[in-house]
Amino acid sequence: MIGIFDSGVGGLTIVKEVFKTLPEYQIIYFGDTARLPYGTKQENFVKEYSAKISQWLIEKQAKIIVVACHTSSAWAAESLKRKLKVPVFEMITPVVKEILNNNYKKIGIIGTPGTIKSNCYNKRLLKNNSSLRIYSQACPLLVPLVEEGWIDKKETELITQHYLKPLKEKKVDCLVLACTHYPLLEKTIKKIMGKKVKIINPAESLVQDLKKFLEEDNLAKKGSNHQFFFSDNPYHLDKLSKMALNKKIKIKIERLGC
Ligand code: DGL
Repeated sequence: MIGIFDSGVGGLTIVKEVFKTLPEYQIIYFGDTARLPYGTKQENFVKEYSAKISQWLIEKQAKIIVVACHTSSAWAAESLKRKLKVPVFEMITPVVKEILNNNYKKIGIIGTPGTIKSNCYNKRLLKNNSSLRIYSQACPLLVPLVEEGWIDKKETELITQHYLKPLKEKKVDCLVLACTHYPLLEKTIKKIMGKKVKIINPAESLVQDLKKFLEEDNLAKKGSNHQFFFSDNPYHLDKLSKMALNKKIKIKIERLGC
């Protein structure tokens, strides 16, 4: 089984890509809705709960952990990789590879305040190529707008425009959607940034890495008995699972320390 976790329902956008590219694999998902959002929490909090959830997923027979939450990927993934005995996949490494392989020079990153504050992309990218120009922007209002289902609203477009303005002015050549919720705003973001800017959805980069790994090292059990756990009843679950997965899902509640 592939264990996937997020701070809430946003990680279903990653599940969507896993189902699309690796339909034969069974997943177990945990969304920490009781402690959402992670994007404005401190590093230690995110580390602590990311570790607890990963351990729980392993106890539930997950053979691989996918850190779908970008904020957890930024703050906690490196310590998870050191501590856990199963392979850990996170959202940042595949994106860093994609940027370097495609020779992008001016890189825009949008994410939660936590992801941006962590400087995870700057550290990783500049270590490989110090001539890159990286422009980051925290977009705290986009998660609640998506959770309200305000995908096609004029107001959402105006707020997104406000956040993207500095990156557009810098003429970035790619833009990383470094948050679980942002792929749901991809149409609006593309419209604002224009055709020349490559929009990078980390979930697409991640599943390619996961696919390669599973081809060589078939650890995860195949099957269709997917399980979805949340630490509290998710707000607007049906709306969000329909937006992300195009279907409703059955869930179970697992408090995990609440
Ligand atoms: N899942 C979070 C992320 O991808 C966004 C929601 C939150 O702040 O918890 O960073």
